Amino acid sequence: MYKVCVTGAAGRVAQSFIPLLCNGSIFPDKKITLSLLDINNEPQIRELNGLKLELIDCNYPNLLSISTHTDPNEAFKDCDIIVFIGGFPRKPGMERKDLLKINSKIFSEQGLALKNAKEDVKCLVVANPCNTNAKIMYEVCKKNGLKIKKENFTSLSRLDQDRAEGIYKEMYKKDSANIFIWGNHSSSLFIDTIDESINKDIENNQNFLEKIQKRGAEIINVRGSSSTFSAANAAKNHLRDWCYGNEKIVSMGVVSNGDYDIPKELVSSFPIKCIGDWKYEVVKGIELDDGKKEKIKKCVEDLEGEASEIVV
Ligand code: LMR
Repeated sequence: MYKVCVTGAAGRVAQSFIPLLCNGSIFPDKKITLSLLDINNEPQIRELNGLKLELIDCNYPNLLSISTHTDPNEAFKDCDIIVFIGGFPRKPGMERKDLLKINSKIFSEQGLALKNAKEDVKCLVVANPCNTNAKIMYEVCKKNGLKIKKENFTSLSRLDQDRAEGIYKEMYKKDSANIFIWGNHSSSLFIDTIDESINKDIENNQNFLEKIQKRGAEIINVRGSSSTFSAANAAKNHLRDWCYGNEKIVSMGVVSNGDYDIPKELVSSFPIKCIGDWKYEVVKGIELDDGKKEKIKKCVEDLEGEASEIVV
């Protein structure tokens, strides 16, 4: 059994994600005790209450119980997994880092509230800027003496990988094998692969890179609001692979150990090997020529710029 909290549960991304969690698409062999958190405002509370009724009506075999909360301390109590979706969403014309001022307060508070969760709680941050929001929580926990391991703080770059693979398939009319993401979930992200033939296709294709870097903004411009079920689907893939493992290299935002000259303690996307049983490691030995190193350096500058704005 896993106790899972979803924050921002009244919002659209969460409502695409919660059915995947409850219908066994992520943890087919686990029963789920669901804790739903949103802010203490009337529209969100009504939405949470309605959501609870609908979840009961779905009669998901894996769903054991549902509780709704407006206080993270209560919502996180004894949680095994927390999916941080709640935060102010990006609007047209904004970069994700423009959300830092608004969302960092939420993540400082929620970082502290992690003291109520299990010590081995697994955290996935979806709300933007997701890498730096994860770093805020990691730093808050460290400062306050919480014993949650740094490996347990992750952020969502799987959406960029899934996008890159989907758009590659569309653009080149070939099945994509293994693309992965370095750096920030932002317009500085860098796409890489160890597959030579894909590398030839994408290496100097600025159009392809920019398409992925700006896909979030493209969706916001086209429909007036940010991505929903693709983000939920990527969160599903991230958690499933983290828990059960994957043969492929996958992309996850994790707290850096200094690999590939990405400074320690920045939360950056890396090529990751998920081993199973919630264990993963950064894939070592990926060859980087000067051009690739330069692009990763730009990612680092972007992440360092965001990190310099946080106060814990
Ligand atoms: C996305 O990439 O679609 C999401 O992170 C939302 C956004 O602000 O771009």
